[in-house]
Amino acid sequence: MKEKNLLKDSSAYYENNDYYEIFSKAEDGESKVVNYLSKIAKDKIVLDAGCGTGKFLQILEDVSSKYIGIDLSFNQLVKAKIKSRKENSIFVNTNLKDTMLCSDSIDLIVSPWVLGTITDLGDRELCLQDLKRVLKPGGKIILIENEEDSEFETLRGHDKDTRTKDYNNWILNNGFKVMERFNTYFKFDSKDEARKCFLEIYGVEVASRVKSELIEHKIVLFEFVK
Ligand SMILES: C[S@@+](CC[C@H](N)C(=O)[O-])C[C@H]1O[C@@H](n2cnc3c(N)ncnc32)[C@H](O)[C@@H]1O
Repeated sequence: MKEKNLLKDSSAYYENNDYYEIFSKAEDGESKVVNYLSKIAKDKIVLDAGCGTGKFLQILEDVSSKYIGIDLSFNQLVKAKIKSRKENSIFVNTNLKDTMLCSDSIDLIVSPWVLGTITDLGDRELCLQDLKRVLKPGGKIILIENEEDSEFETLRGHDKDTRTKDYNNWILNNGFKVMERFNTYFKFDSKDEARKCFLEIYGVEVASRVKSELIEHKIVLFEFVK
């Protein structure tokens, strides 16, 4: 079986994949990103753009004044909503191309591993354009993304091409700066669980390269200030 092309029709893919939740929980085993978000989201109106199953929902809800989660995948959004504990949180099943949120209304937009899954460059640009529109002057967009050199990239075969590099350069060319870099890892319960997740998400070839329940992962945070 060839490596799955997740970038193709990613929303439909995430819609149907229950393994994404296990994968997401294993990611950033030391909660370095969570700790960072807890500081910058304090008392802010936060948009989690492409919230998926709500990986960062708990910390963002806890510290923010208001949490808005948007995702194209209805099923992922339902999983996120079940985790919600704040009555004023809002969940919207829509495309980031057209959020219908008011202009200049959001203090902080956090978008973890989302825009890179949108292969159509025109669509991706429309999404970023709308995120910038809804941001308050002085507000920030934080894109949470993968570094080019880590075991996670090698496992997925991204060391053999310029996918991650090209995407990260696209971000930099759109007015973002690198804010933080975190050396972290995926921590699965067992090697078998890690393999099963990678099999379901990336296919048999990638899964066969998984040798441990711990997988090194380097994360980079990009920041845009309006
Ligand atoms: C790799 S997942 C990341 C999910 C979550 N942010 C996390 O860190 O676990 C990408 C998410 O972006 C969503 N997504 C992709 N394109 C989108 C779009 N145009 N509008 C809204 N959500 C989108 C997918 O449905 C999916 O839930």
